[in-house]
Amino acid sequence: MGTNGFEDELLNRASYVEDVLKEYLPKEEGYARTVIEAMNYSLLAGGKRLRPVMMMEAYKLFAGDDADMSVVHPFMAAMEMIHTYSLVHDDLPAMDNDEYRRGRKTTHVVYGPGMATLAGDGLLNLAFETAISGAARGKALSAYDGEQSSRYLEALSILSTKAGIYGMVGGQCADIVAEDTTYSDIEEAKSVLHYIDENKTGALIESSLMIGAVLGGASFSHVQKIERAGSNVGIAFQIQDDILDIEGDETELGKPIGSDIKNGKSTYVSIYGMDAAKARVKELSDEAQDILKELGFEESFLGNLFSYLIYRKK
Ligand code: IPE
Ligand code: IPE
Ligand code: MG
Ligand code: MG
Ligand code: MG
Repeated sequence: MGTNGFEDELLNRASYVEDVLKEYLPKEEGYARTVIEAMNYSLLAGGKRLRPVMMMEAYKLFAGDDADMSVVHPFMAAMEMIHTYSLVHDDLPAMDNDEYRRGRKTTHVVYGPGMATLAGDGLLNLAFETAISGAARGKALSAYDGEQSSRYLEALSILSTKAGIYGMVGGQCADIVAEDTTYSDIEEAKSVLHYIDENKTGALIESSLMIGAVLGGASFSHVQKIERAGSNVGIAFQIQDDILDIEGDETELGKPIGSDIKNGKSTYVSIYGMDAAKARVKELSDEAQDILKELGFEESFLGNLFSYLIYRKK
């Protein structure tokens, strides 16, 4: 399949996600109206929707192409809400202080930093409201051989853990601490960077794939493999983001370039250099492909997506 055919398929899936998301958007009414408007502003600004697409594709790999999609819809929406909240907070003046996101003014520029903080908080809670009520109403699923025997509880557990201090929030913490730290030991700098990439970005990508697999009927050992594949792709995704922060096109990206240098960030490019960064994206993505192959899924949309992301420009 040529790149264009693939891009069309990806856009179709993103627009499917868009429709799913719209089903769960809060109504802009009542005295909380302003914060709800700010939440919807950021949610509907139009991201690539890659995490819900990955979740849906992982679900289909295990559940089959004509599986009941309503099982995974609330979790897909929840993941995009958590991801969007992470971006709203990431852009705040107290964090990366950026003014453009998804081709529009950032939430704090339009609604003020206080309301943007609340919009992030609101999105995080709405994510759990959405996933929990989906789990409570979802059709019965087979038992799971992991920590929880209920697949819904396992999915909720992954969603909450990987978004928090043992995942995205932990990575964002290390990202900020690293701004003001000069590591005399290069090995320590590399180890911190690995932690940052694995957690601030890897964790949500990893958990998207894992939740899709768990709800789709995968066994514990298969979910562990999917977790490893997700971690590789997630780290590669952040390294590519760091590359695009230098070489990307702002209009295409929909966000400013040069943000990392402005903030003195530790990135793969700042520590290893541009050529090594590009080589690492390819290497990590190939490792993820190998895991899909072990699972017998090399000929899948997900496999094509992993390859496509290596050369993404946005
Ligand atoms: C941006 O994520 C933040 C990172 C984790 C690198 P995306 O590049 O997926 O952003 P959207 O959702 O398409 O806006
Ligand atoms: C942020 O990484 C990852 C998040 C958890 C939001 P960046 O700070 O590099 O993301 P961008 O470049 O602003 O999208
Ligand atoms: Mg950041
Ligand atoms: Mg940022
Ligand atoms: Mg970035």
